[in-house]
This record gives sequence, C-alpha cells and structure tokens, in this order.
Amino acid sequence: MTDFEREKHIQYFLSNLRMLPSPYTETETNRMTLAYFCLGGLELLGALETVVSDHNKKDWIEWIYAQQILPSEDGKNDPHCGFRGAPWSGECFTPNKTISEYHYYDSSHIANTYTALLNLLLLGDDLSRVNRKAIVNTIRCLQQEDGSIAPTFDSLERDVRFIFCAAAISYILNDWSGLNIERTVEHIKSLQSYEYSIGQCPGEEAHGGSTFCGVAALTLMGKQDEGLLDKDQMVKWCLDRQSTGFQGRPNKQPDTCYCFWIGASLKMLNAFQWINHENLRGFLMTTQTKMGGFGKDDKSFPDVLHSYMGIATLSLLGEPGLRTMDEAVNLPTTGMERLKQNCVFWNASQDTSL
Ligand code: FPP
Ligand code: ZN
Repeated sequence: MTDFEREKHIQYFLSNLRMLPSPYTETETNRMTLAYFCLGGLELLGALETVVSDHNKKDWIEWIYAQQILPSEDGKNDPHCGFRGAPWSGECFTPNKTISEYHYYDSSHIANTYTALLNLLLLGDDLSRVNRKAIVNTIRCLQQEDGSIAPTFDSLERDVRFIFCAAAISYILNDWSGLNIERTVEHIKSLQSYEYSIGQCPGEEAHGGSTFCGVAALTLMGKQDEGLLDKDQMVKWCLDRQSTGFQGRPNKQPDTCYCFWIGASLKMLNAFQWINHENLRGFLMTTQTKMGGFGKDDKSFPDVLHSYMGIATLSLLGEPGLRTMDEAVNLPTTGMERLKQNCVFWNASQDTSL
C-alpha cells in the first residue's frame, strides 16, 4: 500500500495558502472557506505552528477581522452581520479598518461566518473581537418559518448546508438564542427521504453531503434521538455508500470528499467501526497526488477542498502523523481546546454551570 505523503501535503497547503492558482478566481467570494481548507489541513498535519510564522498568522487574523460586517448606526446591517468571504465588492480591504457602515454588496454569508470562526481558532485568536450578539441576531433573521435557513438575508437559497452552519456558529459562540431549535429539528426531520438519510430540501434524494450537515446539526444541538426518524436505516444507507471509498449517493463513483462527509456522519452515529478501514485508506492513497494534495478520484488534479477532506478522513482513520478532529464542528481537536480554554464566553459559561 502506498505511503502517506505528509511532507508533500504540507507544501501543497502552504503554497495554496500563500497564493491560489488562477482556476480559483471564480471562487473568490468564498476565499475565507478556501483558507480554512489550507489552515485546517496544516493543523491536522501538525504543521501550522511551524510553517506559518507568527507574523503571518497575525496578518491573517487582521484580514479575517476586516471581513466582519458589524452593526451600522442606521440599523441596516442588522440582518447582514458576520463575515463575508473576501473583499470582492463593497468596502475594499484596509488593514485595521472594520465595516460598520451599510454597503449594499457587503453582506455576511453564513458559510463564511462559520469558516471565519474556525480560521480564527486555528490561528490562536480568542474571538474577543467577534460581535457575537450581532451574529446571533443575524441568524435569527436568516431562519424561516419552516425552520430552514437562508445563507444571506436577501437570498432565496435554502438547504441543509446553512442549517449546519447556523448550528456550528451557535455552538462555537456558545449562544443558541438565534435558532429556534424545535423548528430546526422539525425541518431536519422533513429532509429524511424514503431511504431514511438526508436530502438538501424536503422531498429530495438523500445525499452524503446533506446527511453530514443534518446529522452534525442534530449532534451539536444534542437532538439526534429526537431528529432521526430511523437511525439504523440511516446507518445502513451510509454503509451502503462504501465500495472502496464512499460515493455521495447511489450509482455514483466514489469520491474523496464523501469519504469524509459520510465517514464523519458514521462517526457521529457511532457506526464508524462498521466501515472497511483498509478499503477506505486504499482508495485515499489512489486519490493522493504526486504534487501533494488529493483529487476527487485517481484521475483528477488536487484541489483544496478534496485535499482537506482526504486528510480529515485519514485523521478519522487514525493515520499516524495526523492530529485528531471533532467531526461535528469539523475542526481539529486543538482548535476545540482553544475554543474552550481561551474564549471568555466559554469559560464564563463553565463557571456558571458549577
Ligand atoms: C452535488 O452533489 C452537491 C450537493 C448536493 C451539496 C452537498 C453538500 C455538501 C457536500 C456539504 C457541504 C457542507 C457545508 C458545510 C457547506 P452531486 O451528487 O450532484 O455531485 P457530485 O457527485 O459531483 O458530488
Ligand atoms: Zn467531491
């Protein structure tokens, strides 16, 4: 069996963290999330503290805070608070300048708010400059009558990815007051198909990515027992997705990213032990590329999403040289420890629970 190319993966993530190749231009609006794949990958490889200098980490932290949309005096920013993915329009990036005026195009996006928080934790920040109240209030504005969540205030998009982001943000910020948990659980129930796994929207086919989002949201809310219609059937659906690696849904080819989305779902469902570990690792060794990083299959060039997902799956498998992770938040354990030790709003809540 092929060796795990740790050093090459470190170089792969580092070079993409420094400069993304031109094919990523069209994903500029989500640069925060692309940075997460690189920072998270480096942290799982145990390399972030050594290969990125303290000075560079500080620069990243300042860049992230410069993407935070804060409440404006006229109140117009209230449903738009959180983090945007990059300064792609609206206020341009100016170090140490925060965005507290309303600009039509400067809105947070719930996925980038989520990955901004993960990035800050990975970089050792204590989240003290995050406006928690404003973010929680925005989540309240994004939740719909049926429990679904919009990614931005004026968007018509609705699917379970944004429910996961809202739950993960509420968990990290240790404040669930922006989410109506009962409605959220009811909505996730409505996403379970005749296959007993989770689709993006009510009535849709079950899918590995959506299954992760729904199961992780329920896990973070402490509502797995209430929200899953038939856990055994869901576990069966997930296990049936494995051949060598995992496919995202029936009749598709195995893909590196679904090894994580479904592998992590099985971990949360306490059924990871039932998968074929050797086959899974073997598949990932075929999608690992010569230049470092992972592609979606053995014929594809690497990209930062599949590279992070490949490393994260190997972490779940206990690959030597990789750190462990919390699969529900999708964050290396070191980041979770910093959250609980360094962030005042976690310490305070621990004190009051005594
Ligand atoms: C299309 O799959 C992809 C989706 C329906 C999205 C699935 C959701 C995720 C991957 C989770 C994302 C999570 C967050 C937190 C943003 P397809 O089966 O049509 O295509 P594919 O086989 O090429 O993936
Ligand atoms: Zn994929």
